[in-house]
Amino acid sequence: MAKDAVYVTRTRMPEFKTLCEQIQHIIDSGWITNDGECVRQLEKKLSAYLGCPHLLACNNGTTALMLALECAGLRNKKVAVTAYTYVATLSAMLWIGCTPIFIDIDPDTLSMSPYELEQAFSNHPEIAGVVPVNIYGLACDNAAISEICTRHGAKLIYDGAQAFGSSWQGRSLLDFGDYSICSFHATKIFHTVEGGCVIAHSKEALDKLALIRAFGHRGDTHFTLGINSKMSEFHAAVGLNLLPQTDTEIIRRKKLHALYDALLANAPLTRPRLAQGLNWNYAYYPILLTNNSVLQNVITALAKENIHPRRYFFPALTKLPYVHLWCRPCPVAEDVTQRVLCLPLYSELSDQTISKIVTTINEQALG
Ligand SMILES: Cc1ncc(COP(=O)(O)O)c(C=O)c1O
Repeated sequence: MAKDAVYVTRTRMPEFKTLCEQIQHIIDSGWITNDGECVRQLEKKLSAYLGCPHLLACNNGTTALMLALECAGLRNKKVAVTAYTYVATLSAMLWIGCTPIFIDIDPDTLSMSPYELEQAFSNHPEIAGVVPVNIYGLACDNAAISEICTRHGAKLIYDGAQAFGSSWQGRSLLDFGDYSICSFHATKIFHTVEGGCVIAHSKEALDKLALIRAFGHRGDTHFTLGINSKMSEFHAAVGLNLLPQTDTEIIRRKKLHALYDALLANAPLTRPRLAQGLNWNYAYYPILLTNNSVLQNVITALAKENIHPRRYFFPALTKLPYVHLWCRPCPVAEDVTQRVLCLPLYSELSDQTISKIVTTINEQALG
């Protein structure tokens, strides 16, 4: 990784001295994993920050989603999922034997289309669960999706891997559905190097998740099939270190968004429409160019300046080489993945670099 290169994001680093003190404390305690003091402290702080009391820390967002699917009883069931997301959403489903039913997206919001979801229930009344994704930390049409799930008796699990710090109508986006999950990967606005969490809405569900998170047994008594999804004390310490500065990070990113918005105001591109009532975490800056050839030209021109945006998300899940068994076309998602780019966005990004990025985009997009 070249030092002066500009990537789509730059990992937030913990404060060294405080982290050393936290690590010394962990070492002195002699307890480095298995539901330790730092993990419990982090869970408590995250619960308070998000307003979600039934929260469990995990070793990544992918296993967090597996826990939620398993706990919701969706193993080996048909589950509807947006066709436009990072591949991990699908991986978690496939690892617990779900049959995916791909749902196309709304072309304006880029999230699961409630109309397409309703159509899918008509064709597959046995759909037992629905997994919408709060892509880029944006809100789905929560009201419509939740109404459809209730009417069809399907479990609703939000993949909020990117939604930390986003809220809708005053509630964290992670507080919706039967379950939701978040990723605390190093690329995320809040992270624990690797990590994640699963959120439920009752003590019973939380206890079941905790059991499955730790192999499905307590002591010598084995209750159910489990997995290892535990977070270590060292990872939790990084989270405890970074959590207090997360709001400052969001404010800084909001300012950078405003600069991009102003400079790109006349560029021939579109941006996803924000749901009314959304308080966004400004985690990503996605743009939709007019076609794939402009996208390729922009990528090449920026690469010459050592600037590297990312094709988040590419490809559509329906275009993965191992999903042919379940494929049904999702033309909107398939089109969007040909034209979408996430521009660099992180605290230390300078106004000059943003200007350079926008100038390059305008040169290519305007021809
Ligand atoms: C939408 C989405 N779902 C799931 C995941 C998986 O999270 P993790 O990398 O923590 O396993 C990610 C990670 O980037 C993601 O973006």
